[in-house]
Amino acid sequence: MTTDIREKTREAWATRIGLILAMAGNAIGLGNFLRFPVKAAQNGGGAFMIPYFIAFLVLGIPVMWVEWAIGRHGGQFGYGTSVGAFGQLTRSRRAAMAANFIGVLGIVVPLAFTIYYTYIESWTLAFSFFSVTGHYSAVQSFEGMSGFLSGFQGKETNLYFSGLSTALIFFFITLLLNTYILSKGIAKGIERLAKIAMPMLLIFALILVVRILTLGTPDLDKPENNVMNGFAFLWNPDFSYITRAGTWLAAAGQIFFTLSIGTGSILTYASYLRKKDDVTLTGLTTSMTNEFAEVILGGSIAIPAAVAFFGLAQTMVIAKGGAFDLGFVAMPVIFQRMPFGALFGMLWFLLLFFAGVTSSVALCSPAMAFLQDQIGLSRKKSALAVGTVMLLGGLPVVFFLKHGFLDEMDFWAGTFGLVIFALIEVVLFVWIFGIEKAWDEIHTGSEIRIPSIFKFIIKYITPIYLIGLLIFWAYQDGLPILLIRNRSAADIPYLWAARLMILGLTALVILLAIFAYKKGKLNLMTSPEEIADE
Ligand code: ALA
Repeated sequence: MTTDIREKTREAWATRIGLILAMAGNAIGLGNFLRFPVKAAQNGGGAFMIPYFIAFLVLGIPVMWVEWAIGRHGGQFGYGTSVGAFGQLTRSRRAAMAANFIGVLGIVVPLAFTIYYTYIESWTLAFSFFSVTGHYSAVQSFEGMSGFLSGFQGKETNLYFSGLSTALIFFFITLLLNTYILSKGIAKGIERLAKIAMPMLLIFALILVVRILTLGTPDLDKPENNVMNGFAFLWNPDFSYITRAGTWLAAAGQIFFTLSIGTGSILTYASYLRKKDDVTLTGLTTSMTNEFAEVILGGSIAIPAAVAFFGLAQTMVIAKGGAFDLGFVAMPVIFQRMPFGALFGMLWFLLLFFAGVTSSVALCSPAMAFLQDQIGLSRKKSALAVGTVMLLGGLPVVFFLKHGFLDEMDFWAGTFGLVIFALIEVVLFVWIFGIEKAWDEIHTGSEIRIPSIFKFIIKYITPIYLIGLLIFWAYQDGLPILLIRNRSAADIPYLWAARLMILGLTALVILLAIFAYKKGKLNLMTSPEEIADE
C-alpha cells in the first residue's frame, strides 16, 4: 500500500553535525543559564544535584531515547508530530485515532510554551541592545536595575520607560526572526541557524566563565564576597533539602525543561531522520552536551558572579526572586561594575539570545510540521501561520505579565504539560507498542547498545517515577494552583484567561486534526498486517 503522504518527500537534515547541533540547540536554552542556577540555589545547592542526576538518569535519558525513536518511526510514515506518530504505535484504527487525538498535546504544549518563551527571548535581545547603547549605564544599584526591568516589562512607569512600546518592538523583531528561520525549513533554516548559533554560544559562554573565574574578590573591603564562595554557595550540599518533596519535583521539572523532553519538539526533529539513522548515541550526545552547558557553564556564571559582587545574603534573596532577578537585574549591575562591562553585558545577553532562539524555533517545529504535512500548507504559509499565532497569543503575555499571565502559562505548558506528555509517550511506546518492539526500534541503526538495565528502567521505573511526580504535584501544588488560591482578586481573571488561551489553542489543533482526517491526511494508520502487505 502506498499513500499520497508517503510519496511526498519530507525535508531532512543535511548533515550529522548539523542534526546534533540543532538537537543541542533545541535543548540548550534559557533554562540552562537562568533557570538551572536559580533552582539549584533555591533547593539545597549541591544536594539538589542528587535528585537532579537521578531524574536525568531515569527520566531524562530514557524519555530522550523514547522521543527520538517515536519521532523517527513516525517520520517514516510521513508524520512529524505525535498527531500521526502516536497512531503508528497502536494496533487498530480506532486506537490510532484515539492516540492521534491525544497527540494533539504534542503540538499545543510546545506552542503555548514557545509563546511566552519567545517573549522572554526578546528581552535578551533588548538587553544586549541596551548594554551596547548604554541605556542602563546610569543604573548602578540592584534596586535601580530592578526598576529598569519593571519599567521595561510595563509593571511600572518610571524614569526609563513609560508603557510597553520598547518591549513590543523587540518582541516583534524576535517573532519576525523566528518566523523567517522557520520559513527557511529544516536544513536551510534551523540547521543553518544551529551551525552559527551553537559555536557562538559556546565561545561567549567560555569567555564569560573565564571572566567570572578570574574575578577573585572584587571588593577588597569585603573579602568574603568572592567567586570561590559563590561556587561554595552553589555546590555545598544542604542535605535537609533531600527529604523535601519540593526538591525532587523541582529537579525533575528542571530536567524536563532543560532537555526539552515532553515538549514534542525532539519528536519532530527526529521525524526528519532516515530510518537507519542512529538515535541512541546521538540522543545521548545531545543530553550530555546539554548537561555540560547547564551544570558546567550555566553553573559557573550567574551565581558565582552574584556572590562575588553582592555577597551571600543578597544572592540568596536574588535567587529567591527567581531567574529574571538573577539574569536581568543582578547580571547587568555586575557587568556595570567591571571594566568593559558593556561588552560583557552584550555577550551575556547575546549568549542567552542564541540559547533562546535555537530552542524557540524547535518548540514551533511541531506546529510547523503538522501544518505542512497534515494540512498541506506550504512552508512559508505554515511559518506565517505559526508566527501569527505566536503574535496573537503573545500579546496578552506582554500586556498582562504583571498579573501572572506568563507564570500561569509556564506552569501549565512549561512544567505540568511536559510531564503529562512524556508519560503518555512512554506508556504508548513501551506498553502499547510493546517493550520488545520499542527496544528494537530504538536500536535500529544504533551505534551503541544501550545497557539492558535501561530496558527495565524505561518499562517500569520511568513511568512509575512520572506517575509519582504527578501525584506528589497534585498533593502539594495541584489544588491550590488549580483553584487559584492565594492569589490577589485582581489577578484571577488573567490567570483564567491564560488557561482559556491554552484551551483555545487545543480546540484549534483538534479542529485541524479533524480536518486532516477528513482530507485523508491522517487516517493512514496501518495495522501491522497492512504494513506487512507493503
Ligand atoms: N530546553 C529549553 C531551555 O532549556 C527550553 O530553555
